[in-house]
Amino acid sequence: ELRIRPPTNRQRLLVVANRLPVSATRKGDASWQLEMSVGGLVSALLGITEFETRWIGWAGVNVTDEIGKKSLTQALADKRCIPVFLDEDLVNLYYNGYCNNILWPLFHYLGLPQEDRLATTRSFQSQFDAYKKANQLFADVVNQHYIEGDVIWCHDYHLMFLPKCLKEHNSKMKVGWFLHTPFPSSEIHRTLPSRSELLRAVLVADLVGFHTYDYARHFVSACTRILGLEGTPDGVEDQGKLTRVAAFPIGIDPGRFIRAIQLPQIKDHIKELEERFAGRKVMLGVDRLDMIKGIPQKILAFEKFLEENPDWHDKVVLLQIAVPTRTDVPEYQKLTCQVHEIVGRINGRFGSLTTVPIHHLDRSLDFHGLCALYAITDVALITSLRDGMNLVSYEFVACQASKKGVLILSEFAGAAQSLGAGAILVNPWNITEVASSIAYALNMPAEEREKRHHHNFVHVTSHTSQEWAETFVSELNDTIVEAQLRIRQ
Ligand code: G6P
Repeated sequence: ELRIRPPTNRQRLLVVANRLPVSATRKGDASWQLEMSVGGLVSALLGITEFETRWIGWAGVNVTDEIGKKSLTQALADKRCIPVFLDEDLVNLYYNGYCNNILWPLFHYLGLPQEDRLATTRSFQSQFDAYKKANQLFADVVNQHYIEGDVIWCHDYHLMFLPKCLKEHNSKMKVGWFLHTPFPSSEIHRTLPSRSELLRAVLVADLVGFHTYDYARHFVSACTRILGLEGTPDGVEDQGKLTRVAAFPIGIDPGRFIRAIQLPQIKDHIKELEERFAGRKVMLGVDRLDMIKGIPQKILAFEKFLEENPDWHDKVVLLQIAVPTRTDVPEYQKLTCQVHEIVGRINGRFGSLTTVPIHHLDRSLDFHGLCALYAITDVALITSLRDGMNLVSYEFVACQASKKGVLILSEFAGAAQSLGAGAILVNPWNITEVASSIAYALNMPAEEREKRHHHNFVHVTSHTSQEWAETFVSELNDTIVEAQLRIRQ
């Protein structure tokens, strides 16, 4: 849960993200049930004690009446959250449309939508207009709450226009922007009709951050090739103004996982699961049901492994947790059907009357259930086609202190750059290679497993989400100081 701090004179950090870390359900005219979600970003910011944090974002519900808006605002205030209200049409064009149907696939190298070109062009423009409008609504809420001296940290591809909207209103604001997805090669970014406007809007920020050095480099290349600006080792320069661009790889709060698996009730649950799967090695996939996660490719690789290794039938099980996401977007609906079809076919082909090789769940697990699964896993299979970072790989490592299982990890996940030496890196498109990596992982001698695990465990426990957030925010403060110094000189 979010800790509520007493009012102090500390500098304030306004965190602006599309989604608040709270999901709200209406229980009556003026009554709301709020549920906190403790994702990577929340736990990262809980650790920052130097600043007093406020969250600004969409509450994920459509509220049209004034009583509802007022009561939700009051309820969220206790959690230090401030809502941005977006109506249904806007959510459809901005969130389902421009964010999740255009930017998300493009930034993950899946290209722009290719249906009926004329219709796409028309809807592209209306989605882009809605995107700008939504970003302005976020900016309006920030402006209402801004107090001089606040630091503003904008998050992710939903809010690329926000730095521009904010600085146009008040050029003295300290504004940082961080992208949680990959930033693609400039050759991909240049296919986007609104490529220049988006880059220019982000460049208005004082500090621009990415998970990896490669993403930062791609962004700088896009600015030099598409906008004709100068790239320097520190960032991008435009008429003497430098926007600092750098890599800040995120981590997790490892202690939360390490402590959880020591709890008596989780130990009991671990024992139950071990009995349930006794005699079989457990392979685990945990992903949002998203095309970037490469779930069909992963399952096909597992099928190939079963085909090539009849000795392993009945001795291995793949548990695939596929958390439903963005279910209003047609591409996600198609993917769900495709995955179900493949899983059904493989279970029909390799299952028996008593067992199936794949347990596929279309739902999320609670935190403790997830930790127990991580702890009993022999091989984690994370084969994203592209992924900004992928913290499931970090969470798995944190829960493996006693088992020392193997991590098979896509070379296209940002985490491959930090866990590459301990994991088995694979190209998820190469089903033959993934199938043989599964065989290698299942047969790996204990000594090699321990060595690989140790490497990853040291990394995960020494690069925490808290440090990530602290580094970004303190650099954001320093960047401003530097900029002011340069102007004075
Ligand atoms: C990714 C994005 C986040 C987003 C999350 C869940 O990790 O980088 O910004 O919140 O997916 O997606 P959703 O659309 O449900 O917020």
